[in-house]
Amino acid sequence: VTRAVVTGLGFAVPEQRLTNAEIQARVDTSDEWILERTGISERRIAGPDDTTSSLATAAGAAAIKDAGLTPDDVDLLIVATCTPDQAMPATSAFVQDALGLRCGAFDAGAVCSGFVYALVMAAGMVESGRIGTALVVGAETLSRIVDPDDRSTLILFGDGAGACIVSGGDDRDDRGLLTFDLGCDGAAAGILEIPPGQPYIQMEGREVFRRAVRVVVQSAQATLEAAGVTAADVDVFVPHQANARIVSAAGDRLGIPADRTIVNLDRYGNTSAASVPIALTEARDAGRLHDGDLVLLSGFGAGMTWASALIRWGTPA
Ligand SMILES: CC(C)(COP(=O)(O)OP(=O)(O)OC[C@H]1O[C@@H](n2cnc3c(N)ncnc32)[C@H](O)[C@@H]1OP(=O)(O)O)[C@@H](O)C(=O)NCCC(=O)NCCS
Repeated sequence: VTRAVVTGLGFAVPEQRLTNAEIQARVDTSDEWILERTGISERRIAGPDDTTSSLATAAGAAAIKDAGLTPDDVDLLIVATCTPDQAMPATSAFVQDALGLRCGAFDAGAVCSGFVYALVMAAGMVESGRIGTALVVGAETLSRIVDPDDRSTLILFGDGAGACIVSGGDDRDDRGLLTFDLGCDGAAAGILEIPPGQPYIQMEGREVFRRAVRVVVQSAQATLEAAGVTAADVDVFVPHQANARIVSAAGDRLGIPADRTIVNLDRYGNTSAASVPIALTEARDAGRLHDGDLVLLSGFGAGMTWASALIRWGTPA
């Protein structure tokens, strides 16, 4: 089969910052507590003119440009989000129009795992040869579904969007998506949800934490095993940016050192479906992704869902 390779990346975040000091002034918490328990210093908050689709459009446009493509080259758009602009139509419809794409477009719902899920779906379409190029976006305005009085969630979540272009590679080359693992344990749906009729996220933080570490480790191990490699072979680990302690606990158990792990949650908090593509783009822009590197993407979130993808970085010459 044709391999699916990542040929473009981009991200967009709102201008406005929400610092720990500002949260400390609003609810019973402290900068020290937030930093120590989560690793987060500040998040970006959507302004009155920002929407999930406007952030997704900016990230998508950046990824198309980065890949050296035009909107006409895109054969499929998937937007992963749990904070759609409206209940209908799908947010992808607004993004499709704003970007001037002429292709099918739909939203993927797997909450914080959504981007990795969507990437795997897009890669499958490319590998099958049915399409040439897909644009995959993770975009959120979580600040609009966070209870301003709930100190356990207010501190965690932020807004933003990240995007990537997936195109057909060369079947004689091993660059591209190698293996993946997708999972869901719907029995745990109640630990992180917006209950029917409620406006805001409700979360059992400790339980989410415990399960997150477990599923990230198990899913990563399954993905590495399927590719016939070990954690020692991973050059760059790009985990969902939920909490620095979840990231380090998972890295420790997997045996992936901190210096191979991408962490930017100190500046953005948890941006759900946007977190992995934003972290991946920043890692690339910082020169941390090299041709031939093994890159492990890992998402987990409400559902509970989880998703891992192992990519041999680079595009065939
Ligand atoms: C929310 C989270 C930061 C709380 O940290 P924790 O170390 O687990 O803390 P606990 O929930 O055990 O709470 C410890 C105490 O701190 C308090 N606390 C909670 N939030 C606080 C805050 N922002 N400031 C100060 N104290 C806080 C709790 O009320 C509790 O007090 P108690 O012992 O008197 O009951 C942590 O559980 C977490 O990050 N969980 C995962 C959440 C997540 O990633 N969700 C998204 C998944 S995609």
